[in-house]
Amino acid sequence: MQSSNSRLFFLYGIIVLIVMICIGVIILPLIQGQEKIIVGLSLFGGSIVFLVLIYNIFDKYIKPVQSSAMVANELVKGNYKARTYVNHFGDAGKLSNAINVLARSLQEMTIQEKMQGSQLRTVIDNMESGLMLIDERGYVHLVNRKFLNTFGKHAKDYIGFLYYDVLEQENIHKAVQEAFLYEEKVKNSFTISLEIEKKRYFEIVGAPIFNEANDLKGAVLVFHDITELKRLEQMRKDFVANVSHELKTPITSIRGFAETLLEDDMVNEEIRNQFLTIILTESERLQALVYDLLELSKLEKDELRLNYETIHINELLVGILTIVEQQAQKKQINFTTTIEEDSKIRADRDRLKQIFINLISNAINYTPVGGKVDLGVHITKDSIEIVVSDTGIGIPEEFKDRIFERFYRVDRARSRNTGGTGLGLAIVKHIVEAHRGSIKVESKVDKGTIFRVNLPKSFLD
Ligand SMILES: Nc1ncnc2c1ncn2[C@@H]1O[C@H](COP(=O)(O)OP(=O)(O)O)[C@@H](O)[C@H]1O
Ligand SMILES: [Mg+2]
Repeated sequence: MQSSNSRLFFLYGIIVLIVMICIGVIILPLIQGQEKIIVGLSLFGGSIVFLVLIYNIFDKYIKPVQSSAMVANELVKGNYKARTYVNHFGDAGKLSNAINVLARSLQEMTIQEKMQGSQLRTVIDNMESGLMLIDERGYVHLVNRKFLNTFGKHAKDYIGFLYYDVLEQENIHKAVQEAFLYEEKVKNSFTISLEIEKKRYFEIVGAPIFNEANDLKGAVLVFHDITELKRLEQMRKDFVANVSHELKTPITSIRGFAETLLEDDMVNEEIRNQFLTIILTESERLQALVYDLLELSKLEKDELRLNYETIHINELLVGILTIVEQQAQKKQINFTTTIEEDSKIRADRDRLKQIFINLISNAINYTPVGGKVDLGVHITKDSIEIVVSDTGIGIPEEFKDRIFERFYRVDRARSRNTGGTGLGLAIVKHIVEAHRGSIKVESKVDKGTIFRVNLPKSFLD
């Protein structure tokens, strides 16, 4: 641009010079003497003035206008960084100034737009739900990261394709069709098997998109992963079924024996006592079950409050050990304790007792006659470890995690015979977690089991 400018300037300069020379050539032969010198000098002076004028016009008008035109051209192409760098005088200067301001505003606007775009993209990509945007003809325009994590493949495998070609689930097709047909939000759910045996449940919400003129422009599909919800729902259903089942057995038995006693006058004393004992045992089982259920529901409440107090473990154990030792004696089990002196802890007294009772009762119940059970309480700097070990039947590796579930028993019949409700360990686990502690189990089938509970000595409520 600079070189074409100076070329133009030289061209005009040469034209002026040629015109002056021509005037000189025509006029000078017509005049005489000193007039020749005056006219010659005037022509020379005139040429200089013209040249300076042309230069000025170039510098102040043509150059800024050309530069502004060039920048405007760059702006049209989308290069908002372009600026004019010429002197800012007069109207042409104002023009180039205005062009610079325009360019700066455009640049700021695009930066802002880019920022907003990337913010929106970040939000969309970091959403907890999958998202897909399709146009009114059913072509996919956008999918987010969560969507790709769920359905696999890459964005390029979806974008630009018809939604029903890239997604096979009938329920998704239905949701889209209904969103388009009824022009309102629709909900649907479907399952996908990502891996064998690993089903995931999704809820899909399809919402139509309208433009300002209220024309349907497409639909946005949101995929919520509701697998966890479904699992909780299933757990709740299982729990209700389990409770009903657990209640049914003792109730049927109590009713049966009571009816027999009432109907048959001939039952002798011995059988009568036998029946009444069964009724008593079964009602005790019912009572234990109801007690454990209530305890569990209290522990599972969100607003569970523990009554913290400073507890000396030795003191707490006095009451417990007498009961436990009796149980052990009945089964001729050698029950020993190794308790460190002055073990103190801040905890809920009744609940802490429950931990000891449940774990030791289990150890005794699941250890055959003549076995050994040991209770250890060890102190570390900021925690207390309760270790209950036995030489009992043990727990097969595959059930070790499940025994903490409500009503989960390795051997249902054996547990029932010991009067177990199947809730003992679930309660222990809840209590331990409420005290922000941990529970672990080590076990070998037919060798024995060790339960280790770790409780922090004190913590802020
Ligand atoms: N010390 C142990 N040795 C072997 N198995 C155990 C032991 N403690 C618990 N279990 C297993 O864990 C299951 C769940 O225990 P728990 O919740 O106390 O219920 P329950 O004792 O009423 O059956 C028991 O049925 C038993 O199979
Ligand atoms: Mg138990």
